Amino acid sequence: MSDLLVVNIGLLATPVGSAAKGGKAQGEIQLLHDAWLRIEDGVIAALGTGAPEGTGCPVLDAGGRLVTPGLVDAHTHLVFGGWRQNELALKLHGVPYLDILAQGGGILSTVTATRTATEEELADKAAAALDEMLRFGTTTCEAKSGYGLTTEEECKQLRAIRALNQRHPIDLVATFMGAHALPQAYKENREAYVSLVCEEMIPRVAAEQLAEFCDVFCETGVFTAEESRRILEAGKRYGLRPKIHADEIDPIGGSQLAGEIGAVSAEHLIVCPDEGIDSMARGGTVACLLPATSFYLGADYAPARKMVKAGVPVAMATDFNPGSCPCLNMQLVMNLGCLRYRLTPEEVLTAVTLNGAAAIGRAEAVGSLEPGKRGDLLIWEARDLNYVCYRMGSNLVHTVVKGGKTYSNTTGAN
Ligand code: NIG
Ligand code: FE
Repeated sequence: MSDLLVVNIGLLATPVGSAAKGGKAQGEIQLLHDAWLRIEDGVIAALGTGAPEGTGCPVLDAGGRLVTPGLVDAHTHLVFGGWRQNELALKLHGVPYLDILAQGGGILSTVTATRTATEEELADKAAAALDEMLRFGTTTCEAKSGYGLTTEEECKQLRAIRALNQRHPIDLVATFMGAHALPQAYKENREAYVSLVCEEMIPRVAAEQLAEFCDVFCETGVFTAEESRRILEAGKRYGLRPKIHADEIDPIGGSQLAGEIGAVSAEHLIVCPDEGIDSMARGGTVACLLPATSFYLGADYAPARKMVKAGVPVAMATDFNPGSCPCLNMQLVMNLGCLRYRLTPEEVLTAVTLNGAAAIGRAEAVGSLEPGKRGDLLIWEARDLNYVCYRMGSNLVHTVVKGGKTYSNTTGAN
């Protein structure tokens, strides 16, 4: 692990604390001008303004730039075989996402490609994506299974995630999502697949400690709210904390369920009803919103402002996957958070750092720049947060510091 003293920080912008922030607090961040920050053994030891304290370790000059925590991408389908560019033509002809899936395409075609690949091939492909994510500023990333849909194939994906966590600088958090789609073979026997997920897959994933979370795609034609409840309750019994893809296309009760079962996060929430927001507020659920998916599907945008007002902490992530969002750039997510959700740059920063960390159970370790947290930070080719949220389409990350180690970009913007 590394020691590093970052000096000449023009502006250090960070949320504060180790818990998700909702309501007014989501927009309350700490701003330090003319700051420095010291990392020891990969962990933040101290920070302050004025003359830097601490000598004898390597020094990194931030050149008066903006510094924020590293970005937390709290929702990705990182590990998959193939891509789905063939679906672009279908989309352009107006074929809906769920129709492609119902015809055996969509997620199910990625299932075929993922089953064909070896664990090593999957890991190599995902590592290339992680390299790109790191350059765009992601330092912690959630990754789901869900393209295997058999016990062995789901475990293969999760093992690939475990291997990647060992070999790649980005920290990964694994989520089991065997209930991502109903395999063709179970079309006439849904109950048997739900039982397989609950009675075979979940116990195995837990026994092999392959995941921390359990997620379900609660959607018309995929899993009902009652099936989702059964799966997530089974996961809980085995120590897998619940997450849920809810209200992405149809509001069938996913967000209400999220609050009722105490889900750590509910994802998408594009068509989330008021009762869902109330339920999440009561259950302490983080709303993990995925604006790049709305953009890519040509769908509406989740009612982010209503959620913030109701005190539901809003996180934002990419949803990187080969179908509904082949985008891994958290900076684009930040743009959309302002332009489409109408969140302020300060609220957006909290969404992509501390609240994202809370959505994946990492708020004690990352998501803000404070002593005791991991030395994960970004030096931006920017002087303030407004600039980061205002520019679009460029990579504005100048340098990534991950656990005290530096990874430099050569953008030359600004
Ligand atoms: O979050 N909605 C379900 N799962 C992904 C899409 C996966 C895919 O299309 O391959 C999502 O959007
Ligand atoms: Fe997703």
